[in-house]
Amino acid sequence: MAGVNPYIGASSAEPAKTPFKITFVVEETGEEKIFVVDPKQIPYGRIGLEGSVLDLAEGAGLEIDHACGGVCACATCHVKVTEGGSSCSKATEDEEDQLDSARDVDTDSRLSCQCVPNGTQDLRVVIPAWNKNLAREGH
Ligand code: FES
Repeated sequence: MAGVNPYIGASSAEPAKTPFKITFVVEETGEEKIFVVDPKQIPYGRIGLEGSVLDLAEGAGLEIDHACGGVCACATCHVKVTEGGSSCSKATEDEEDQLDSARDVDTDSRLSCQCVPNGTQDLRVVIPAWNKNLAREGH
């Protein structure tokens, strides 16, 4: 089970129940990796909310930095959801507070550990170049 931040409210986000596709774009290299999410495999890892973009990236073999362990207490897992964002859980006030301290924030910005897609749309997720030492192929 993922860690829990006692200083924030519990999330009501529901992981996807149907398969969908995420195209991860590693901005630094231009590499794109398409990952088909199998809801039966959620959670793929042990970090972030179950079914979050961070969790799904782990399933795809991609690492995104997550300094606080995926509990909405930093902004290192900042990504940009450029397509399909409306199918994701809404950012909570706690997430928005953390994003206030992130660099290069725009309307597509999300904390990948808190952003949970519901599976009704395919996603395109950009891992920003400034995350360059931290976004890398997994094992
Ligand atoms: S890993 Fe710290 S907020 Fe997502």
